[in-house]
Amino acid sequence: MATTADDARSRSAGISYQELIANDVVAPPAPLTWENPLDVPVTSVPVTRYTTQSFYDLEMRDLWPRVWQMACREEEIPNVGDYSVYEIGLYSIIVVRTQEGIRAHHNVCRHRGRKLVDFDGHAASFICPFHGFSWNIDGSSRSVTSQWDFPHIDQKNFTLTPALADTWGGWVFVNMDMEAESLASFMGDLPTHFAPWSPENRYIEAHVGKVMKCNWKLCQEAFMEALHVITTHPQILAGIGDENSQYDAWGNFSRAITPNGTPSPHLRSAPSEQEMFDSITMRALDDPPNPGVPESTTARAMMAAGARAGLQPIVGDDVLLADAEVSDSIYYTLFPNFHPWGGYNRIVYRFRPWQNRFDRSLMECYYLSPFAGDRPDPAPLHLLGEDEPWTNAPELGLLAKVFTQDTFNLPQVQAGLMAAQYDEVFLARYQETKLRHFHHLLAQWLR
Ligand code: FES
Ligand SMILES: [Fe+2]
Repeated sequence: MATTADDARSRSAGISYQELIANDVVAPPAPLTWENPLDVPVTSVPVTRYTTQSFYDLEMRDLWPRVWQMACREEEIPNVGDYSVYEIGLYSIIVVRTQEGIRAHHNVCRHRGRKLVDFDGHAASFICPFHGFSWNIDGSSRSVTSQWDFPHIDQKNFTLTPALADTWGGWVFVNMDMEAESLASFMGDLPTHFAPWSPENRYIEAHVGKVMKCNWKLCQEAFMEALHVITTHPQILAGIGDENSQYDAWGNFSRAITPNGTPSPHLRSAPSEQEMFDSITMRALDDPPNPGVPESTTARAMMAAGARAGLQPIVGDDVLLADAEVSDSIYYTLFPNFHPWGGYNRIVYRFRPWQNRFDRSLMECYYLSPFAGDRPDPAPLHLLGEDEPWTNAPELGLLAKVFTQDTFNLPQVQAGLMAAQYDEVFLARYQETKLRHFHHLLAQWLR
């Protein structure tokens, strides 16, 4: 649709996502046909949101202690007594499975404040390594050392400080605000969007984290738009509809869908179906040549057929796998920092501050994969240091090289913003929808 820049419906030239999927061989599930363009006034973001301790402190005061956030997967704490430690800035939460379900406690001894546990693990009770006070896994007090010396402690009420815990899709979420709205209410229709893909029936095939030399928001924002593809991933332009991506927002979540197996509108000439297929399958130079794309089909249909053939033995023949859900990049964001991908793409990202610093972050990528038969054991976190390349994590496969491209710019963006002599960064009206939605919500959380 050719439009003027001030038309709120202005879009890139070329086929829209809805027009594209209308021609697919296997039609998409309903959520991929929904559209809800964002309608909020944010078009710029103050630079100080990325560059100052004072803004970081605001987030630490107003956002993190009050918002729902993904802490771990249920499969990481399968048995009663299994626990995982979730850290966000200065806060530390123990997420533990009890007889009565999953519970969350602040990871702080109620005596003189030592962190109660240092690592994930399994316990019948939590015993503080300093003076030995202990708590049952449900948070109730188990023992007070030299109890005769603490007549002023009412042991019945001497519980660990609780946090809320709830689950969705196999994920465990926590909230430090005991008065917070329920997780279900906070998520809104997100579970409806994911119903076709049952994320609870996936296992952690890989879990890689990397320390990044940039603010946590700056890092996640590099994964919330396809505007960067033209210069960050030029090798895939023949087969990715970067500028034809669809962007939507509902309540506390947003979504981008970038179609694959269709050419970028930025290209000056139309690639052949073979060129599209070769670019999107990311063949390495020493790999055998790709199969030819027959006249009778398209790169998009052939890509989908290949993915379908690989998945069908795992998910079963009764699951209808649409071209879109096995081919496209469908990336959701639940405010503030949880990024599960839709369809059968395995990716889930989480971003958060690292070591309580505004200019360091931890980026994590999970591969959540379907499985047949018994659930395989979850992969433990493979943590890469700030100077280690993604390619040190071979479990990421070819995407390690793409992440290297994605994260190459980020320390220089942080450095550039620190040096900037202007007040605001400007966001694209449509293609940076997800960033605008995020910052619109963030402003509402800060008091
Ligand atoms: S600080 Fe934990 S028992 Fe004293
Ligand atoms: Fe990218």
